[in-house]
Amino acid sequence: MSASSTATPARSVRWTGDEFGTLTLIDQTLLPVEFKECEYRAVEDVWEAIKMLRVRGAPAIGCAAAYGVVIGMQGSTHGTRDEFDSRLTEVTDYLAGSRPTAVNLFWALDRLKSTATANAQLAPAAMLARLLSEAQAIEIEDREMCAAIGRHGAELLSNGDGVLTHCNAGGLATAGDGTALSVMFAAAAQGKQIHVYADETRPLLQGARLTTWELMQREIPVTLICDSMAGWVMQEGRIQAVITGADRIAANGDSANKIGTYSVALLAKAHNIPFYIAAPSSTFDLSISTGKEIPIEERKSDEITHGFGRQTAPEGVNVYNPAFDVTPATHIAGIITEKGIISPVSTENVARVLKGR
Ligand code: MRU
Repeated sequence: MSASSTATPARSVRWTGDEFGTLTLIDQTLLPVEFKECEYRAVEDVWEAIKMLRVRGAPAIGCAAAYGVVIGMQGSTHGTRDEFDSRLTEVTDYLAGSRPTAVNLFWALDRLKSTATANAQLAPAAMLARLLSEAQAIEIEDREMCAAIGRHGAELLSNGDGVLTHCNAGGLATAGDGTALSVMFAAAAQGKQIHVYADETRPLLQGARLTTWELMQREIPVTLICDSMAGWVMQEGRIQAVITGADRIAANGDSANKIGTYSVALLAKAHNIPFYIAAPSSTFDLSISTGKEIPIEERKSDEITHGFGRQTAPEGVNVYNPAFDVTPATHIAGIITEKGIISPVSTENVARVLKGR
């Protein structure tokens, strides 16, 4: 892995060169203080980057993992196709163990495995090139899905709206303009004056560090609040809509997103404010019927007790640190997808909209 610094914002996930090329990721753990891009040449480093949230956000994790597979397969072009295939299983299983909740990770890995199965006649070198083109297709499609989500979602916002968001569902979290933030960018591009309230998003502060950074770069008015202030700013009448991203959406529309999203949805309901999820079809897991089946990642206690290096709790205190929660479909006014808006949110409507009907 090698690093470079630049003042110019770049794409969160980027491939350079042919199938023996490299993956470049923005190290999101350093933002907003430092903008640093790192180049990846080993699958172990890609795994670490996903695990440690250097690359994060469901769609970006999927894209990074797809390129991680290509990197993991670069040393397997001289053996037999059987050897190539067994290494592919090893590499995809390994990357699948990095983070459990965002389904985009498993979706992208499955897509590369299916590509290999469908191209069993290709020799290892040609198969590696084919895997790269599939990973690139995932990245390009993600960019297009973000744009379409923005177009559909912008219709839900009116001039003068205050919009609350939680965590970061922006360009950093995807290959394009983001999901929730794409809606805000598209509304602003239509000339609507919107004001975004960004929850800080404890414990890793994706809202404070990343969402405000992105919105300020794009000159969208944004105000940072602590997570505990969301109810009060709603009560004050500052919020007309809540829009967040998602990491995994069950067939009935129950949606997992960053811890704290469920509380925000409950607050929105109490204040009669529509709560929307913005997510591409790659974030839906139709193999599970409800959100009860979504695996919730638990992270290390020091993210809470020693956030960003400073001890803020007594040594040895008991800690519970689930990274995600699940908002029931009943609390979601609509799910904004690249295929249209699912509303009301029900198993039937999820299936209908995703089929493009
Ligand atoms: O732990 P993170 O930072 O990867 O969590 C990210 C989120 O919860 C995002 O809201 C979600 O992945 C949607 S990103 C378009």
